Amino acid sequence: MAKLSEIITKFPFNPEEKRPMLIRKQDYSTALYPPNNAFTSDNTFTIVSTDTFMLGIYELGPGGSFDPLDIHPGDESYYILQGPIVQRSGNGQFAYLETGDGLYMPEEAWHKAHNFSDQKVRVLYFITPKAWGENIPPAVIPTDADTKFYKGPNNENLPDMRTVIKDFARQGCTDDIGAWPVDGKEARKAPQAVYAVHDCNKLNNVHGTEHPMLMRFITSNDYGHYGEFVLPAGGYGPRCSEPDTHNGDGAIYCIEGPITINLVDMEESFQLEIEDSFFIPAGIKYQLVNFNNYPIKAVFAITQL
Ligand SMILES: [Fe+2]
Repeated sequence: MAKLSEIITKFPFNPEEKRPMLIRKQDYSTALYPPNNAFTSDNTFTIVSTDTFMLGIYELGPGGSFDPLDIHPGDESYYILQGPIVQRSGNGQFAYLETGDGLYMPEEAWHKAHNFSDQKVRVLYFITPKAWGENIPPAVIPTDADTKFYKGPNNENLPDMRTVIKDFARQGCTDDIGAWPVDGKEARKAPQAVYAVHDCNKLNNVHGTEHPMLMRFITSNDYGHYGEFVLPAGGYGPRCSEPDTHNGDGAIYCIEGPITINLVDMEESFQLEIEDSFFIPAGIKYQLVNFNNYPIKAVFAITQL
């Protein structure tokens, strides 16, 4: 497989060659990250890396942690495929995330994951717009000891986050689309807080009225939208969502399937098996179709609705 640094922004195609594409699980690009020390690396599977976003999976073995801390010139959100993981921030937050939970990390928030369980953990991550920049990650990266934690030696030099972390316990509503769990611009101001969006805290909505599909946002802001679709079974014909298009690029990852993706105007359809993904360029009309006798579930990662 290719070096991760060589495929960034051009996997599985160069940005000028974007087209709707089924990307099968076995075609994800594998790498250790970081690549120079297997003992402190996670096992990374890149699904899409283009000029507008990156979508991938990483795995940590039992007891494992990746090192050093990570940072991006874009927001990163998680969907926990297999938990629990504990995600630490540079400023002293430790989010305990179980299977199905989400996490929102604004641009330039330092982060690192620990696996305290006896199982492999797996995380589906979405970074938008950019995963790496000219100066990010910087040449000097803080160590764990530089972050805030129980009796940490550097705690006094780091901000008190109690007044920074925003409370999003209020019940969500449709008007929160575009600012969930918090406003993106506000969240990106230093010192950045990260936000666990547990399954019960996802922003729920319904996509379409004639053919309703459940839509559950983990993150929704000016950089991107990340969450899950649930399309039930049943009907006179197969259950389908209403056709939609987006102003930005996106991808669908199959959690429970198979899922049929129908490209309405192109009269082409594709079958996503569990763990397969589909790239949807801006402006392409698509719908999800469920031919099964059980609900199907997909993660959506969309840069602009
Ligand atoms: Fe990251």
